[in-house]
Amino acid sequence: MPTWVRAMLKIEKLNFAYGDLKVLWDVDLEVHEGEIVTVVGANGAGKSTTLKNISRLVTPTSGSITFQGRDLGKMQPHHVVEAGLVQVPEGRRIFPEMTVMENLRMGSYVKATRPDRQKNIDWVFELFPRLREREKQLGGTMSGGEQQMLAIARGLMANPKVLLLDEPSLGLSPLLVKNIFDIITGINKQGVTILLVEQNVYQSLRIAHRAYVMETGRVVLTGTGEELLNNDHIKKAFLGM
Ligand SMILES: Nc1ncnc2c1ncn2[C@@H]1O[C@H](COP(=O)(O)OP(=O)(O)OP(=O)(O)O)[C@@H](O)[C@H]1O
Ligand SMILES: [Mg+2]
Repeated sequence: MPTWVRAMLKIEKLNFAYGDLKVLWDVDLEVHEGEIVTVVGANGAGKSTTLKNISRLVTPTSGSITFQGRDLGKMQPHHVVEAGLVQVPEGRRIFPEMTVMENLRMGSYVKATRPDRQKNIDWVFELFPRLREREKQLGGTMSGGEQQMLAIARGLMANPKVLLLDEPSLGLSPLLVKNIFDIITGINKQGVTILLVEQNVYQSLRIAHRAYVMETGRVVLTGTGEELLNNDHIKKAFLGM
């Protein structure tokens, strides 16, 4: 990706605190159209908090976040979704008492996406055939991996331009982990830009065009996925090499 491409999502000098506890320090991060960008870092580094600031679930102390030139600081969370920034939260928060199909339909609650509902259902069933087989099953009775698929599929129902994924591989078996990363790559190839937060450093750097490393609320390293996979600090700190 050439550096002259204008950032689609741009975070500049983002600072954030939960009450008195400051957790983000001058975070700078950019996502360009068509990219898979990964943020890696240890537990508590501030990865999920960064995504929450982007989705406007919390309000930054200072700094700016713009999406396609628009200031997200002035938007309500549902306006952020309407603009095309859709977050799949950590811990696959699906609706357990609703069927798979009902969960998917909830994903297209934004009015503008409703005309695309059927097309999107066909699309996510193609990506996740398992969901089609289990269309009438209650979300809460699906396996962990199936719930993760459903959470991603529900996000796709909102016509994302950028999909924000928080730890999609968490708690999945090794085979399913590979599967999820292949699916993320596939979704990206179909034109959805991806911002991925992950603890599976190896797999997520492998599929990333670019990546950022966070430590205790700061971005400490950035580069292409390949550069970071070969970086000595990353190898020692995250890959056990
Ligand atoms: N609602 C909250 N209130 C107070 N502190 C919080 C809250 N949510 C997160 N924190 C703190 O903010 C810091 C960053 O948390 P965050 O969830 O962003 O980390 P993370 O990088 O996503 O970690 P993990 O990999 O464990 O998900 C942590 O020290 C955490 O304890
Ligand atoms: Mg997190």
